[in-house]
Amino acid sequence: MYQAIYSGKISGNGMFTQKCQKFFEEKFGFRKVLLTTSCTDALEMCAILADVHPGDEVIIPSYTFVSTALAFVRQGAKIVFADSNSQNPNLDASRIEELITPRTKVIVPVHYAGIACDMDPIMDLAAKYELLVVEDAAQAIDSYYKGKSLGSIGHLAAFSFHETKNINSGEGGMLVINDERFIRRSEIIWEKGTNRSEFFRGEVNKYGWIDIGSSFLPSEIIAAYLYAQLENIDNIQSKRKSIWEAYFQGLETSCNQNDVKLPFIPEYATNNGHMFFLVCPDLKTRTSLIEYLKTNGIYAVFHYLSLHKSPYYQPYHDGRALINSDRYTDQLIRLPLYYELTIPDVNSIIDSVKTFLS
Ligand SMILES: Cc1ncc(COP(=O)(O)O)c(C=O)c1O
Repeated sequence: MYQAIYSGKISGNGMFTQKCQKFFEEKFGFRKVLLTTSCTDALEMCAILADVHPGDEVIIPSYTFVSTALAFVRQGAKIVFADSNSQNPNLDASRIEELITPRTKVIVPVHYAGIACDMDPIMDLAAKYELLVVEDAAQAIDSYYKGKSLGSIGHLAAFSFHETKNINSGEGGMLVINDERFIRRSEIIWEKGTNRSEFFRGEVNKYGWIDIGSSFLPSEIIAAYLYAQLENIDNIQSKRKSIWEAYFQGLETSCNQNDVKLPFIPEYATNNGHMFFLVCPDLKTRTSLIEYLKTNGIYAVFHYLSLHKSPYYQPYHDGRALINSDRYTDQLIRLPLYYELTIPDVNSIIDSVKTFLS
C-alpha cells in the first residue's frame, strides 16, 4: 500500500490492479480478470454483459445472498428460484431443466461455502438451451470442480474480497470472463462505458463514450492491499483448511450421534476452508445452540434467508415451495473461522458444541 500511495498513481487500473489480475489469470486459469469494488459489482457487470432485459428469466438458488438476484433484477429480470440439494445448500442441478422456459437467459450456480456445484450437467443444459452460466464464486477462491478451478467453468464468474472472505481487501471483488465474446465489452463497462483501457494500451488515439457502464474498478490502494494477501495465499489457505479439518474431526462423532449434519463435500468438489457449517435437526435446536455458544463467549451465526420468501421478492415468486432452501434458512449454523483463530480456540469451541449436543 505504501508503494501504491507513493507511486503517485492511486486511481484504478494501475500496476497493482494489473499484478492482481495477472496473478489470478495465471494461478487459476481464468481467461481474463477485472478487479471490481465488490462481488455485487461483478455480478452487475455479468447481468449487463448477458444482455438481460425486462422479462428475461434467470435461474438462481433461493438460498443465496441478495446480490446474486439483485444484480439481475436491476436489469429487469424475473428471478426463477431453484431449490438447494438435500445434502448441501448448492442448487440441485438435476432439477434445473424443469425451470427452463423460452425466456430463460442465464443460470447462476452459487458455490456455497466454496463447495462446487455440479457444473457438468449445468454446462450441458446451457449448451442445449443456449443459455449463459454465471458462477457466483463469491466464497470459492482456490476451490475446484473435477480439478478445474471454480470461476473458470462458466461463461462469466464473480468473486468477493469482502472482509469475511479468505482473501480480502475490506470491500472488493473480481469479474472473470472466460468467453472471448465478452472481453472487449467487459473492459468498456468497467470504465464507465468508455474505451479508456484501449486508449491506455495505445490501441486507439482517443477515447469516448461508446456503451453503458459504471465506475466498477477499485483504487490502487485496494489492489495493493489485495496483492499483499495474494503473496501469502498458500499460507492463508493452509491455515484455514487446518482449522476446518480440526472442526470436522473434532465434531464428527458427536454430530453423527445427535442428528446434526456436517458439511457434505461431493467427490467432484474440494474444500477451500472458507466456512465451517453444521445443519441442526430443527430451528429450535439451532436457536438454543447459538444462545448456548453466546453464553460461552462464542459468536456462531446463521446465514441466508430464502430469497423467495423475502419481503421484496415474495410477491413476484411463482409460489413453488423450496423446502431445502427453507431448511438451511432455519437449521444451518456457521462456527467461527478466520485466519487468526488458534487451534486451542477451535478445540474449546468444539468442546462447547459437544457439551451442548450431549
Ligand atoms: C454468494 C454471494 N454472492 C455475492 C455476495 C456479495 O459480495 P460483496 O459483498 O463482495 O458484494 C456475497 C457476499 O457475501 C455472497 O455470499
